[in-house]
Amino acid sequence: MVFSDRSRGASPLRPGFNSVTSYKPEGLSVADHLHPVINAGRVAVITGAASGIGKAAALEFAKIGMKVAIADVNHERLNELAAELIQTLGETNVIAQPTDVSKLDEVVRLRDRVYEAWGEVAVLMNNAGVGDRGTSWAGIDKWKKVFDVNLFGIVNVQQTFVPSMLHQENQALIVNTGSKQGITNPPGNAAYNASKAAVKSLTEGLAYELRETPNSNVTAHLFVPGWTHTGMTSSGSSEKPPGAWSAQETVLYMLEHVRKGDFYIICPDNETRNEIDQLRIMWAASDVAEGRPALSRWHRDYKALFSEYMREGLESLER
Ligand SMILES: NC(=O)c1ccc[n+]([C@@H]2O[C@H](COP(=O)([O-])OP(=O)(O)OC[C@H]3O[C@@H](n4cnc5c(N)ncnc54)[C@H](O)[C@@H]3O)[C@@H](O)[C@H]2O)c1
Repeated sequence: MVFSDRSRGASPLRPGFNSVTSYKPEGLSVADHLHPVINAGRVAVITGAASGIGKAAALEFAKIGMKVAIADVNHERLNELAAELIQTLGETNVIAQPTDVSKLDEVVRLRDRVYEAWGEVAVLMNNAGVGDRGTSWAGIDKWKKVFDVNLFGIVNVQQTFVPSMLHQENQALIVNTGSKQGITNPPGNAAYNASKAAVKSLTEGLAYELRETPNSNVTAHLFVPGWTHTGMTSSGSSEKPPGAWSAQETVLYMLEHVRKGDFYIICPDNETRNEIDQLRIMWAASDVAEGRPALSRWHRDYKALFSEYMREGLESLER
């Protein structure tokens, strides 16, 4: 791959290529049905399950025949989804537990209810999240809220569930939801980006700790959705923009890669394919390694260089 930063020349920031128009998994194989964790009869717990990606995940786990525990602060939507899940799974295989993940006692209640009912957790999906635009020096309450939910929500769930999951004999996995904004840090959402960077960091640490724990049967995965049409991104519009993926597409991609055992699950969308993400991530890392200005991708002196880098990088990846 050529990562020349010497040559210059006009190049579009988004080079033309055949974008991904929709995501369809290659098809369930026999191996998928035999997956030890994502399998009928086992238990999935999803936070932030009442909308968007969490809801799509609950519906996919129900299709597989897993028992599903859904948790959310939005009680009305939670109950609506529970009614839908019960139609597929029956009442004894669905738990709807109103839970604010930023409150430890509520997370403890969720765990107790799940273990009392089913005695295990196979898939723990830390999905609850909130986003807000803002700068680094304004909106202290917003900063606290974003960190309480996006970071401490996951910390609370990990502290509460992981010790119990480690005691189980059966294999289990934890999926923490990060964001590309926590990796490449685009300007405009300072608190959200910082919280998602922390989620990446804590999930990498968790994966290492689980790997090094004797007899641990639990793995961790960092799930990074692409642009997905959900409550968070839709601004109230029900129509999915062409560039975004549906929540179901994003969840199917995540499941396929969790089944493969991938740790980093960086989802594309209809605007941004994997190669573009790879190049952007490497550029961001090179800011640090090469001592460039912070966020040089958006620095007026580096824009042309970044465009050139993307053009050459994509050409070499496509060769
Ligand atoms: N949609 C995207 O393009 C996108 C991209 C990258 C990452 N993400 C991440 O995906 C996750 C799911 O987001 P989404 O896009 O489906 O948004 P969404 O708003 O549709 O769903 C988020 C859910 O989390 C719930 N929630 C909020 N605060 C909570 C709390 N304190 N406790 C429990 N539940 C709470 C909300 O009620 C909502 O049901 C989030 O972590 C988000 O940051 C989304």
